[in-house]
Amino acid sequence: MDGSDAPEQSHLNEFLADVVDGLSKPQKTLACRWLYDEAGSDLFEQITELPEYYPTRTEISILNQHADEIVSALGDDALLIEYGAGASTKTRILLDNLNAIAGYVPIDVSEAFLLYTAETLRRDYPKLDVFPVVGNFMAEIDLPELPSGQRVGFFPGSTIGNLSDDEIESFLNGARSLLGDDSRFLIGVDLRKSPDILVPAYDDAAGVTAAFNLNLLRRINSELDANFDLTCFTHEVRWNDEASRIEMHLVSICDQDITIADQSFHFSAGETIHTENSRKFSIETLTPVFEKTGWTITNLWSDPGNLFAVLLLTAE
Ligand code: TRP
Repeated sequence: MDGSDAPEQSHLNEFLADVVDGLSKPQKTLACRWLYDEAGSDLFEQITELPEYYPTRTEISILNQHADEIVSALGDDALLIEYGAGASTKTRILLDNLNAIAGYVPIDVSEAFLLYTAETLRRDYPKLDVFPVVGNFMAEIDLPELPSGQRVGFFPGSTIGNLSDDEIESFLNGARSLLGDDSRFLIGVDLRKSPDILVPAYDDAAGVTAAFNLNLLRRINSELDANFDLTCFTHEVRWNDEASRIEMHLVSICDQDITIADQSFHFSAGETIHTENSRKFSIETLTPVFEKTGWTITNLWSDPGNLFAVLLLTAE
C-alpha cells in the first residue's frame, strides 16, 4: 500500500467491477474471496466449530497427531508464510511444537482480522516475530523485508479446493517463486467422500453457513450501495459429482430487480448466484499439478477415516 487513501477506493472499484462482471454472466457468480470481510471472517470461524463441518476438526487432529514428524520436517529455522491466515488457529499447533522459528508471515485479505490475529499471537508468543501482510494471495504479493530462514508456505483449510484448475496452477507457480529454491509447502486438502457427509458440512442445521453466504449480499448492499433484500434469497448446496465439488448458491425466491450503484440486474424466480466451489480431491489428481508447478509431495499425513490429508511439498 502506498499510504494514501487510494487503496480503499481502488478496492471498492475492484469489488464493484467484480460484482458487475459476475452478475452479468448467464450463470450469475460472485467471486468467493469477497465472502471474507470482517463479519464474513467471523462467521467463517463459527463454521469451523460446527458439528457438521468436519474439515477443520479433522485437519487439526492430523496436525496434532503428527506434530513431531511435521515440525521435524520443517526444521528449526522456518520462516512460516501462511496464505489466508484467518484466526491462525492451526498455526498455533506448529508454533507450540517447533523448537525455534525465524518468523511468521500471515497473509490475509481482511485487514482488521489480520491485525487482531497478529496482536493476539504477539501476546501469546512474545518471542515470535510476526510480519502481517494484507493482501489477496491470488495476486502478486509484496513481502516486507523479512529475516532469512527456510521459507515454508502454509495453506491449510483445503482453501486450494476453492480455486479453479487455472487458479491452482498460477497459485502454485506463484508460491514456488515467492518461497524459492529449497522451500517447503504444507497444504491441507479435503478428500473425496460420500455426499451424505459433504452436503451437511456446507448446509448446517443452525444456518451459520447460510448466514455466511448471505453476508456477501449484505456486504454488497453496504459497500456498493445496492438493494438486495436478504429475505428474498436462500442458501443452497449442491454436490457436483462429475466435477467432484460442493457448489454454494444463493437462490432468488421470486422475480426481482436489484440495483447496484446505477446498474440494474434481473433475477427470475429460482435463478441462482453461484458463490463458491469446494473441490474434493484424490491425491492422484493433484500430483501432476504439483509436478507441473515445481513441487513434489514428500510426506502425506491423514486421519483414520481418510477424510482429509495434510501434504508436505518440497520445491524441486
Ligand atoms: N475452504 C472452506 C471449504 O471449502 C471454505 C468454506 C467452508 C466455505 N464453508 C463454506 C465457503 C461455505 C463458502 C461457504 O470448506
